[in-house]
Formats: sequence, C-alpha cells, structure tokens
Amino acid sequence: MFRPFEVSLFYIKGEIKMNIEKIKENIERDLNNVPNTDILNQVKVKYLGKNGIITNLQVGIKELPNEEKKEYGIKLNTIKKFFNDSFEIVRTRLHEEEINQKLKEDSIDITLPSEAIITGSLHPFSRIVAEISDLFASMGYDIIDGDEIETDEYCFRRLNIPSGHPARDAQDTFYIDEEFLLRSQTSASQAHIMEDNKDKTPIRMICPGKVYRRDEDATHSHQFGQVEALVVDRNISLADLKGTLEIFAQKLLGDNTKIRFRPSYFPFTEPSVEVDVSCFKCGGKGCHLCKKTGWIELLGAGMVHPNVLKMGGYDPDIYTGFAFGTGLDRLAMFKYNIPDIRYLYTNDIRMLKQFDRKDDE
Ligand code: PHE
Repeated sequence: MFRPFEVSLFYIKGEIKMNIEKIKENIERDLNNVPNTDILNQVKVKYLGKNGIITNLQVGIKELPNEEKKEYGIKLNTIKKFFNDSFEIVRTRLHEEEINQKLKEDSIDITLPSEAIITGSLHPFSRIVAEISDLFASMGYDIIDGDEIETDEYCFRRLNIPSGHPARDAQDTFYIDEEFLLRSQTSASQAHIMEDNKDKTPIRMICPGKVYRRDEDATHSHQFGQVEALVVDRNISLADLKGTLEIFAQKLLGDNTKIRFRPSYFPFTEPSVEVDVSCFKCGGKGCHLCKKTGWIELLGAGMVHPNVLKMGGYDPDIYTGFAFGTGLDRLAMFKYNIPDIRYLYTNDIRMLKQFDRKDDE
C-alpha cells in the first residue's frame, strides 16, 4: 500500500540540510509502494512538481553561501537523476502489470455456449444437382460444367439440327449475334466433350446447368435447369440406357419407381425415346398428379445419332452411345413436393427455409 510521504522538507529557511541518503530512502520507499500509474504520477508531483521536495531544495540552493552552492547543486542533481531513473523502472513495471491485468479481465471464456449461427439453405436446384452428381460420380461419370453462352454450331448444327430444321422452333432462344446465343439445351455439352476428347477414348459424363428459351406463355420460364448425360463406348446399347435410367429414377424418386420408354423424336438421337416414371404419388394407380395415367413424363433420351458421333470425331461403326436430358425443375418439384414451379424462382424465404442445411446432416 502507498503511504503518503511524511513531509520532511530538509529545507529550513536560509539553510539547507540535506541528508541525501534519507531522501533516497524516501524516494525508494514511495516508489516501491506505488500501486498504479495514477499514484505514481502523484509521487512525481510530490518530488518534482511546482512545490515538490526536490524543486524546493533547488530553489533553496540560492540561499546557501556561494562556496556550498556547487557541492549541494551536484548532490541535488544526483538525487534528481536517482528519482528519474527509479521512476522510469517503476513506470515500466506498472505499465506491464496493468496490461497483463487488463488482458486477464478481458479474456474470453471459451467454455460459454456461442450464439446461434444463422446459416442459409441450399436452393432445391443446388441440392438436386449435388444429389445427381454424387450418384453419377459413383458410377464413374465426369461432371462437366458447360458454357451458358454457346454457338449455333455446338447448340444445334453439331447435334444434327442444321439451320432451318423444324426442331429449332421448339428451342427458340436469345441470340447475341448470328452465331452466339444462350444455350437452349445442355446437349451442346455432348458436341464439346466429343470434340475435346482428342484421343477418342470412351466418354461418361453428365452436365448440369441453366438453359434458356424464348417461351412466352405463362406456364414456361425463359430460364430453367437441365442435366445432360452422355455415354460413348463400344457396344453401348439401349439396354444400358434403360438400366442407367432405372437406377437414376429409383435413387432419386424411390426404390419402387418403374420406368417406361415411349418412342419419340430428337434430331441427335436415333432411336429416340420419351421416358416416363411411375407416379410416385399414387404408386401408379392413377391420381391428380399423373392425370389418372399412373405415369409421369420425366425426360428425353436415345442412342446417339451416327451423324453426331461422326461430327464429334467418333467412328459410328466402332462406337455407339446413349444420351439423355432431363429438366431440373420438374425433378425438384417431384422430389421435394413443390406444388408450383414459380416457387423455384421467386426466392420466397419461407419456401427456401424448408431446405435448411441441417436436413443434410
Ligand atoms: N436436349 C433435349 C431437350 O432439351 C433432351 C434430350 C437430351 C433428348 C439428350 C435426348 C437426348 O429437349
């Protein structure tokens, strides 16, 4: 504890009696008892302030006879230096102590429970793309990221849809100029991967992504999601396509899901099929969702057209392949029981919240 210095001035009018050792002792005692920097500053004032002990002694020197002035002057300077040096040491020590104390008081209690972190949720599209990607990756497929800005060549001509072909009508899209456009189908990725695969080894890939169409009616969106799949190898048959789609449908929509093929037409596949899945709502008995048919249309597929293989640099006498393309919107609606397609695009937080990440854990 700091005890105020008992005032002993060593200053008697007209005569200075300086006991150097005594002053040093007092300085030492005062400084050693200082508990904090505030009091330390008070001690400084006490010795060196306007009316401080050392200051007063300095003033008193002039009262001394000339022959003693020098002697006491030197002594006084020694005391002053002693005070300043000791003061600096104590000041440094206190400063450190105070910082340490502060750190101790401010330290964080890591055992306290944290505040809840609010996380976002994955959009149904992202979830379904992740799920499909996992499934196909487990079967050895590459996951390809195609470009949304495409050329007429890759989106149409290399898929056996020359300019003027009637199949273009259903896929009118947004043109940037004569050649560049927003892809109307992920099938463009088929043409790219066949060309890019220079050593013409077998291909197994899926390409999920956004596609665009210039649809003007109320039930269609100008943008939607698709997943493309392409397999090219020796001896690939329609049976491989059917087996793959069966696994796809069952993993995604439930183990009891059945599939059926209906003949269809796409310029880049031959034969072409439309693939239906048994209605997952009524199990095939017939309900409102499947319009009492027991089946729901899911995707387009077929065996890769020889012209497409040829344009991609694959010899159709050696290689065959299958391809399919499915809309992500309908799939997400089926899978997550989303009643209206518009919910997927309006980003209503109440709808999105239902896909909170904790469901994935
Ligand atoms: N690209 C076609 C569409 O958008 C779907 C499809 C893909 C059909 C691959 C057959 C093979 O309608």
